[in-house]
Amino acid sequence: MGCQMLCLFLTFTLMATTCIVQGCHPADLKGLAGFRGGIHMDTSGRLAKWAGLSCCTWQGVVCNNRTGRVTEVHLPGFLATADFVFQSQMEGWLSPSITLLTSLEVLDLGGLVGLSGRIPKSIGHLKNLKKLFLYGNKLRGPVPDSIGKLSKLEELHLHENRLSGYLPPGVGCLKNLNALLLHSNRFTGRIPASFSNLTNLIYLDLHSNSLTGNIPENIGELQVLKEFDLSENFLTGKIPVSVNNLTSISVMYLDSNQLEGEIPFPSNYGEMPMLGFLRLQNNRLSGKIPPNFGYLVSLQRVSLENNKLEGAIPSSFDNLQALSELYLGGNELSGVIPKSIGQLSRLILLSISRNLIQGPLPDEMSALQNLQTLDLSFNSLNLSSIPRWVAELPSLSRIFLAGCGIEGRIPDLLRSTASPIQELDLSANYLTGGIPVWMESLTLQFFESFKEPSHFTSGIEQIGVVTLKRLEYLNLSHNLQEGQLPTSVAKLKALKCLDLSYNKLGFGLVEALANLSNLETLKLQRNHFTGKIPVEYLKLKNLKDLDLSDNLLVGEIPAGKPLSDFPQSCFTGNRGLCGKPLSPCKS
Ligand SMILES: *[C@@H]1O[C@H](CO)[C@@H](O)[C@H](O)[C@H]1NC(C)=O
Ligand SMILES: *[C@@H]1O[C@H](CO)[C@@H](O)[C@H](O)[C@H]1NC(C)=O
Ligand SMILES: *[C@@H]1O[C@H](CO)[C@@H](O)[C@H](O)[C@H]1NC(C)=O
Ligand SMILES: *[C@@H]1O[C@H](CO)[C@@H](O)[C@H](O)[C@H]1NC(C)=O
Ligand SMILES: *[C@@H]1O[C@H](CO)[C@@H](O)[C@H](O)[C@H]1NC(C)=O
Ligand SMILES: *[C@@H]1O[C@H](CO)[C@@H](O)[C@H](O)[C@H]1NC(C)=O
Repeated sequence: MGCQMLCLFLTFTLMATTCIVQGCHPADLKGLAGFRGGIHMDTSGRLAKWAGLSCCTWQGVVCNNRTGRVTEVHLPGFLATADFVFQSQMEGWLSPSITLLTSLEVLDLGGLVGLSGRIPKSIGHLKNLKKLFLYGNKLRGPVPDSIGKLSKLEELHLHENRLSGYLPPGVGCLKNLNALLLHSNRFTGRIPASFSNLTNLIYLDLHSNSLTGNIPENIGELQVLKEFDLSENFLTGKIPVSVNNLTSISVMYLDSNQLEGEIPFPSNYGEMPMLGFLRLQNNRLSGKIPPNFGYLVSLQRVSLENNKLEGAIPSSFDNLQALSELYLGGNELSGVIPKSIGQLSRLILLSISRNLIQGPLPDEMSALQNLQTLDLSFNSLNLSSIPRWVAELPSLSRIFLAGCGIEGRIPDLLRSTASPIQELDLSANYLTGGIPVWMESLTLQFFESFKEPSHFTSGIEQIGVVTLKRLEYLNLSHNLQEGQLPTSVAKLKALKCLDLSYNKLGFGLVEALANLSNLETLKLQRNHFTGKIPVEYLKLKNLKDLDLSDNLLVGEIPAGKPLSDFPQSCFTGNRGLCGKPLSPCKS
């Protein structure tokens, strides 16, 4: 009723063609019919209700009530109801007739995993388009040049859909996540140079496609670009110098490509003043980290991991007062850690693993009051012992000091850390046994269960269970530990991953280990464990990763899940072991 009155009113005030309640513009109708014709299956049922001629009333279609033209098409794969979100399917191909909708401002077909075809070459006809969502489809082929004609475009989302929010908990221990990537788009070819004409672009997301070639030299012309994601493609060449001109940029993800050359920014103070999130990891970038890096004063999270960066960590890092996460692992960085790192008072995570950094560690690191994760593994640190401040940092709960040349016993200072330890990796060091004095007084009851006092030399029993109640990850592999695995390990109730492989631990596998109901990963290979696999281990229902190979185990592998589900290789190298998955026992 109200609408009819408005129509009457409009016919008096505007041109007669402005009021089109019945029917819709012939081009729009033809375009939508053509789009529907390309889809042969729609589980959401939305397209089945597209009947008659008044396309403005169709589900997912929005018209401008003045011109009567279709301005928005929303048919996303993810549908939200009041209670839950579900994914609907549309099987078919994207008909080029969608480009007949020349007044279109928003086209959202994101997350329709069954939508195939290409981005139509005629996409440039959609001159009014502001937002284009074609992520998470099965689209292939090049991104057409004509996309550069969409001069009003503000958001372009052509990435795949990784469903990252939907992974089940506990999946973190699994390394082979690739299998969970669903039906990604695989756009191929180069990023058209015409992109530089999209001067209203604010969001540009092309991640996880198969794009090749260089990043367009003139990308810096996108002056209002805020978020820029080209990660996980096959882009080559250098990062264009013009990125220095991206004055509005706050998120720049160029990681997981094959980019080379030096990091060309920032060239002057005040450039990229809002850059907060920078990912350049997994490329082939070389040269030094620019000495000016500290000019990027808004940086919060930075990853330069797994490149070929060399030279020292610049001392200008101390300007990065907003920095909370810094990933520099897997490069060829050398020299010592600059004292100025102690000024990064907001730092939560520092990872410099797998570089050529030398010791000693600066005492100034003890000022990192918010540091929760410290990873210095596999450097030339030659630490000999763990610095005292490591135990005194009030927030530190994840400590990775593998391959740091730590010698002797597991140090006393881990008995009483300022913060409960959740993850501890001291693998690939020179740790040996020996009972610290504090251990005897603190945990006398543990020793009663040991049968052979002369084998108290195991390093594991020295860990104070007081501060380790929250321990989820313990890696002491590749050390020189001998003796027995103490039953006290069963008190580490939160443990999910236990790796004691490549030591000289012996005696029977402790039954009490079966009490660790959260255990997902158990690596005991390459030790001298003897006896049978305790039948209690069948209680380890969450076990996803097991390796007992190359020990001296005997007898039948307890029958049933989860043990029988593991491949033979988890049990081989134990000459006396038999039963599923190995060959049957001889009775
Ligand atoms: C027409 O569209 C404008 C802007 O979208 C809106 O504010 C107005 O309420 C609409 N009028 C009718 C009658 O739907
Ligand atoms: C940008 O647009 C102008 C004007 O339409 C055109 O002449 C030019 O070739 C375009 N640039 C690129 C790189 O496509
Ligand atoms: C950055 O922009 C300025 C003017 O806006 C221009 O003169 C300069 O050439 C641009 N730099 C690069 C590297 O594109
Ligand atoms: C590391 O320490 C050992 C002694 O523990 C010493 O022999 C060696 O030269 C040191 N290496 C470096 C690179 O400082
Ligand atoms: C334990 O550390 C070793 C050597 O540092 C590494 O190879 C292994 O993957 C780690 N184990 C787990 C379960 O992360
Ligand atoms: C393991 O659990 C059993 C009961 O399931 C209990 O009797 C035993 O004391 C526990 N062992 C340890 C070391 O916690």
